[in-house]
Amino acid sequence: MTGTYPATRLRRSRATAWSRAMHRETVLTPADLIWPLFVTEGQGVEDPVGSLPGVSRWSVDGIAARAKEAVGLGIPCIALFPNTPADKRSDDGAEALNPDNLMCRAIKAIKDACGNDIGVLTDVALDPYTSHGQDGLIDDAGYVVNDDTVAVLVDQAINQAQAGADIIAPSDMMDGRIKAIRMALEMGGHHNVQIMSYAAKYASAFYGPFRDAVGSGGLLKGDKKTYQMDPANGDEALREVELDIAEGADSVMVKPGLPYLDIVRRVHEAFAVPVFAYQVSGEYAMIEAAAAAGAGDREALVMETLLGFRRAGAAGVLTYHAPLAARLLNG
Ligand code: PBG
Repeated sequence: MTGTYPATRLRRSRATAWSRAMHRETVLTPADLIWPLFVTEGQGVEDPVGSLPGVSRWSVDGIAARAKEAVGLGIPCIALFPNTPADKRSDDGAEALNPDNLMCRAIKAIKDACGNDIGVLTDVALDPYTSHGQDGLIDDAGYVVNDDTVAVLVDQAINQAQAGADIIAPSDMMDGRIKAIRMALEMGGHHNVQIMSYAAKYASAFYGPFRDAVGSGGLLKGDKKTYQMDPANGDEALREVELDIAEGADSVMVKPGLPYLDIVRRVHEAFAVPVFAYQVSGEYAMIEAAAAAGAGDREALVMETLLGFRRAGAAGVLTYHAPLAARLLNG
């Protein structure tokens, strides 16, 4: 119960820094951050992503160095996405199943360099490997077929687990894939490999720079609306999350981030499951553009948005600003 003015003055507790610190309800630490990284072929390569100022594609050796940097900053987990060379992309995305593909080499390099000092989260979906840029197999009409795609995703997940992935993160939005992947991991003896499901992933305009980074943007015809969610829907997100928990997800994700904070909140309140938010590439680009235009202070914008995710109930945030945020938090 709040009294009335002047007995109650909420500004009293805001008057000094020590008092603001004492009354702060939400904390953000480097342990709340997951750092997404793009892998490319070569040796000693750092290839800047045009639409993501400050973000680069790294060759496998550079990825291992970034992993060490993350350990030093207290970031507990990195997420990997490959920029597959054009000549290895195909209609069926078969390169996803190659035990020596870019992704698997990057996983091994990180594990060689850092062991269990860091978690490696790997994306399961076919879009970085298909010549059409869709996340699954397509039929003659261009429709992304569900069950045949799930069968391939299972093999992709096992391929990543065998290379040493700690968390399998299916981002494809096919129905039933969490159950199929969980069963295959169990049968394969990968009992402690986690699944973080992209449970509520929306068909969003904020993925543009990511598709540029993995090289699928120019290939993609049409959109992903037959599998990714309609931005108008919230109740449906809860159904997606409920199903993925039942099928064996250890944690779930909401994506994109800021435009879907209400979904993060609702998932957090409805289920006792860790919910992570993905502050996606377009959100990163928006903050960078604002900072470059002098419309706001980069560091303050980054920290305010990340804190917002925590306040909404997120257990953690995938963000390209992870190293910057960790540096700021570490003072
Ligand atoms: C693909 C995938 C996408 C992202 C992560 N995994 C893009 C898409 O669905 O087209 C987006 C991440 C970002 O924008 O930062 N399965």
